[in-house]
Amino acid sequence: MFTINSESSKKTEKIAEKISLLLSPGDVICLIGELGAGKTCFSKGLIRALGVKNKYVVSPTFTIINEYQGKYPIYHFDLYRLKNENELEALGFEEYFYGKGITLIEWADKMKKLLPKDRLEIYFSYVNENTRRIILKPKGKLWVSRDMESFSENIGS
Ligand SMILES: Nc1ncnc2c1ncn2[C@@H]1O[C@H](COP(=O)(O)OP(=O)(O)OP(=O)(O)O)[C@@H](O)[C@H]1O
Ligand SMILES: [Mg+2]
Repeated sequence: MFTINSESSKKTEKIAEKISLLLSPGDVICLIGELGAGKTCFSKGLIRALGVKNKYVVSPTFTIINEYQGKYPIYHFDLYRLKNENELEALGFEEYFYGKGITLIEWADKMKKLLPKDRLEIYFSYVNENTRRIILKPKGKLWVSRDMESFSENIGS
């Protein structure tokens, strides 16, 4: 588990950029935190870092999922308006999660039981107007095997 303080939305995007360097096809990233905690800010930073132009990246709050093509396919979920898990089944979520793209899930805590074993959980919390606490929790063998230790040493800088 690693904790980083982000003092600006720019820094949150920078952190996302650094995390993008660790990713390979099939990775699932779960973004968890209250309204305005920085999940979309992080997602935008990550999606841009994977080569998608700024202007195309929008929050999928009303659509549940947006797809992008960058260095890899990117599936950006926002489950805030999800009513129940049947809606996810209808979307065919497993095709995304176990496919060849990078999956980002805002409000991933809404589908806790359906998440894959291997995932990077990222918790966001509000500290003050411009500061957010970001906690990285790698879950499952895949993430534990990645060198998060040396990674975390320079992520906040
Ligand atoms: N250090 C920071 N990191 C990220 N966002 C920050 C930071 N400081 C201030 N902000 C601001 O906080 C807001 C974060 O909004 P964002 O849409 O990313 O939150 P969210 O977690 O996706 O919320 P929601 O659940 O409503 O979608 C933005 O307006 C952003 O400018
Ligand atoms: Mg959001």
